[in-house]
Order: sequence, then C-alpha cells, then structure tokens
Amino acid sequence: MRNFTSVSDVHDVQALVDEAIRMKGTPASHLHQGAGKTLGLIFMNPSLRTRISTQKAAANLGMNAMVLNVDKDGWALEFEEGAIMNGNTVEHVKEAAAVMGAYCDIIGIRCFPGLKNREEDDAEIVLNQFMRYAGVPVISLESATLHPFQSLADMITLHENWNSPGKKPKVVLSWAPHIKPLPQAVANSFSEWTLAAGFDLTITHPKGLELPERFTKGAHIVHDQNEALQGADFIYVKNWSSYTNYGKVHEAPEWMLREEKLKHCALGKIMHCLPVRRNLELSDDLLDSNRSLVIQQAENRVWSAQVVLKNILSNLNPA
Ligand code: CP
Repeated sequence: MRNFTSVSDVHDVQALVDEAIRMKGTPASHLHQGAGKTLGLIFMNPSLRTRISTQKAAANLGMNAMVLNVDKDGWALEFEEGAIMNGNTVEHVKEAAAVMGAYCDIIGIRCFPGLKNREEDDAEIVLNQFMRYAGVPVISLESATLHPFQSLADMITLHENWNSPGKKPKVVLSWAPHIKPLPQAVANSFSEWTLAAGFDLTITHPKGLELPERFTKGAHIVHDQNEALQGADFIYVKNWSSYTNYGKVHEAPEWMLREEKLKHCALGKIMHCLPVRRNLELSDDLLDSNRSLVIQQAENRVWSAQVVLKNILSNLNPA
C-alpha cells in the first residue's frame, strides 16, 4: 500500500480487517516498525477521534506524529494552479505540501467539502494536490467525498459483532435528520467498504437524498425506513446533505432512529461514526442501550489507523 484514500487502495478488505484484529490483541507488536519515522497530520477541519486515534496508532508503531491545524495555526493555502495570490491565501500547496513532505515520511490530511460546488468537491482538489506535491505517501483523514479510516474501523466492528459464520448479516445505512449541512463522505465510504466486503447492504433515505451511484452500486435503495429496517442486523445511522440539491439540509425529523422502530430487527445493533447529536439523529434510549456499538467503533479507529500505517511503513522499509 502506498496511499490510503479509498477502498481501492486495499487489495483484500477481509485480510486487512483480520490483521487489524490481530494487532488489537498485541498493540506493541510492531513498535520498531516506525522508529525514526515521522507522521504529519494536517487538519483543515475539526476532529476528536481521527486526530487522537491516529496519533495513538503512530505511537504504537514507534513513530513521531506532528499535528498542524491549518484552519487555526497555519497559513491560508492556495490550491488553484496559476493563481495570482493577491487575496487572502498566503502560501501555495506546491510549497506547503513539498515542505511537509520534506519533514515527514507519511502525511495525513483532513479536508472536508465546501458543499457549495459539487464538481469541485468531487474533484478532491485538496487531497489530490497534496498527493501530487508532497512526494511521500498520503493518507486521508476524511476528504471531500470519503472517510476510509472510519469505514475500516466500521468493518472491524461489524466483524467483531457478527457471530454467524457462513451467513451474511443484513446491514442498513439509515439517513438521519440534522440541522446543519453535513458531508456525504461517511455514508459514501461506508457503502463502498460494505459492498467491497461482500455484505448485503440496504440504504434507506427520503427521496432526493440519493448518494452517488459510483459508491452505492449493488446496494438496495429503499425509501420506506420501516421496510428497510425489517430483519436488520446492523443499522448505521448517519445524516448527509442532499447530493442533487447540493449541500442543502433536508428536514424530516421523523427519520430519527428510536427503539420502537427496531421491533422487527434481527440483531439490531446500532452504529454511528460520532460525533452524534442526541435526540436529533439517534435517541438516548438507543445510544444508552446495549444495542449501541458507537464506542467500540471509535476504539477501532486506533486499529484501522495502525494497520494501514504499518502496511505503508512496510513498503517504505522493505524487509
Ligand atoms: N468519526 C470521526 O471522524 O470523528 P472526528 O471528526 O472527531 O475525527
């Protein structure tokens, strides 16, 4: 593995999940793999889990991790080729990425979408410019369209909670209400990883909130939430803003998941990437019940980051 920006960077999802679970049992088993190596973590947007879990994963591999909060501490960056920089931007990504690449062996970047211009967000300009100019491997800490570390942690969590080998669980991605326009990245990513892992995926959302087909091809799309939830083993709850009416908030408070909607579920475990707005996206009764896997998902962010960093380091230091 050279970069980690989507499921396409992974040769075998199940093998990576199995390796992460082994690593979870022996966190320090590769403590020397990252000795003398530096991980640079660039945040253009806020984070709790991604920042800390990736730093912990780096420490477990013996790496030094440096964090730059570009949104607060860094120079305002320019990404446009040929820009005349007489506005608010101070430094071009050509220099910024190359300088970070000179200090670091691997660079991670979080770069949310603007949610104003769909074509620009789909083009993943920030992520691609860093990959072009950094000169070192780049890992996505959530880009405009995808959140692969979250999805790998979610695959680990699904694997740990499914005890019927030989039978596939029914996985449902259920849209949730929110008051702010949120990215589609977690939902896109969960869909592509779940399908790549060979699970049966149903996506349920109000009409008009369709996700891009390039991430959902193979999933069942059901607009009736109650119908979608019938027999569900895992329900991933997530808001995303409209893709067709791009970036707009859709108001549908009745879509909040609560215990009474799970009467006809099989296993009925609840997942969410966090942060979650209680009693808006998901009810207290579910989040506080033993149906909830949200803390386990967050914990598994460490092992998703560690297994990916370990694989990239293996390519930097071939045995
Ligand atoms: N799930 C997730 O990425 O959390 P943070 O935004 O806190 O990093």
